[in-house]
Amino acid sequence: MSFQIAIDGPAGAGKSTIAKEVARRLQYVYIDTGAMYRAMGLYFAGCGIDLDSEEEIGRACGGAEITIRHVDGRQQVYLNGENVTEQVRTEKAGMLASKTSAYPEVRRKLVQLQQEMARIQDVVMDGRDIGTAVLPEAPLKIYLTASVETRARRRFLELEAKGSPADLAEIEADIEKRDYQDMHREMSPLRQAEDAVYLDSSDMTVEEVVDEILKLRRQSE
Ligand code: C5P
Repeated sequence: MSFQIAIDGPAGAGKSTIAKEVARRLQYVYIDTGAMYRAMGLYFAGCGIDLDSEEEIGRACGGAEITIRHVDGRQQVYLNGENVTEQVRTEKAGMLASKTSAYPEVRRKLVQLQQEMARIQDVVMDGRDIGTAVLPEAPLKIYLTASVETRARRRFLELEAKGSPADLAEIEADIEKRDYQDMHREMSPLRQAEDAVYLDSSDMTVEEVVDEILKLRRQSE
């Protein structure tokens, strides 16, 4: 039987950094589900269809093939055969994902793919609905969050380090908008699963959060 660690939480809470490190330490496969929604968002934008039309989005879904591969432990996302791992990291792709991930057809398609990946191997999977909808039976669930200010500041420093300075207030506004969209959509809104452990990383280092999750993993034996 494979073991699953589900990590959910809002944008910028540090889920991917933490999940990647936990996966590395346990030698599990890290699956970043947000990258899949981002790839779908880019696909819809590229098709030039009306992003407000559930019908058009539903029809277009069949034309997108998302494939996940792991190279040296790093996840690579392919959209119809093209490696879009870098392209999906932009703010624009994040907003597109947040908008189009609300559509049931998009979620159905990706949830199926995610469940299949978790069935065949030990995984650390992060997203918004992993503990509540994708892997409701996961033996360990974490809800990882941090204050909006902390999340915006982290993102700001990240962009600055990459040499692409941004506006802190703008980042904060984007994060708040994305939180609202993700928490208020009809299908699989972001919320803490009843049996998830709540972790606020605002005043914790990456190492502290990772250690806490590894401790919880040992306790779940
Ligand atoms: O985590 P990340 O910022 O890459 O996610 C981008 C967007 O994809 C989120 O804002 C959310 O709308 C959507 N998403 C989702 N369900 C997931 C993962 C991401 O709806 N499991």
